Amino acid sequence: MTNFPFDVKTLWSSVSNLESKEKIAKQLVSIANDGDVIGFGSGTTSMVCALEFGHSVKDGLAISAVVTSYELAWLCDSVGIKVVNLNDVSNVDWCFDGADEVDSSNNLLKGRGGAMHNERLVFDSAIKRYIVADNSKDVKVLGEKFPAPLEVNPKKMVSVYRELNKMNLDSVAIRLAGSGSKDGPVITEAGNCIIDVVYTAGFNNILIDQISLLDGVFDTGLFIGYEFERIS
Ligand code: 5RP
Repeated sequence: MTNFPFDVKTLWSSVSNLESKEKIAKQLVSIANDGDVIGFGSGTTSMVCALEFGHSVKDGLAISAVVTSYELAWLCDSVGIKVVNLNDVSNVDWCFDGADEVDSSNNLLKGRGGAMHNERLVFDSAIKRYIVADNSKDVKVLGEKFPAPLEVNPKKMVSVYRELNKMNLDSVAIRLAGSGSKDGPVITEAGNCIIDVVYTAGFNNILIDQISLLDGVFDTGLFIGYEFERIS
């Protein structure tokens, strides 16, 4: 266990709906068994779950975590959860992750935190999946409340941006790091840039295919057709 010179919880500026996230975390952790290899998603709900796992690990639960972001790796490490990577394990027994939006067919919009490609890798590797998302994440159509984030190869940003602007979208914006943090674009956990696309009428499968097939789009935060159990 690493003795970090800072409180890893400060990596998240604030956690909304903390009480409901803690309730979700308790339910999730009760599912775990000794020996489980568990995929840990990113975001504040996942962080609260990781903290709860930390309590159980202290009480003797033996699990390993495949993480999807630096901050979750640091958090797991700081609370005594063994971190492994996808190269080390034959499979991920189950995974959990948050979501920004969940529609009535259980399609997901993710990626506010810029970890969506790593999250998809773990999602695809897991035998069973849990989505930890309280009811505030429910939407009629994907895109209603959040932009869909696209992970774009930095070398293709201009051409992807141009192509997106030819589609009938509400808005297209490169996600910038913001003053005081870093000049220029946000870099995802997988090393790409992000273009946020707003389309409040709802991302349908045809539009998602059109966007995903653009040369340079590496991944998206639109997770369509996955089977999972939801804890809310
Ligand atoms: C990060 C994600 C998160 O899972 C999503 O943004 C939900 O976060 P939170 O639990 O903080 O609402 O996709 O890339």
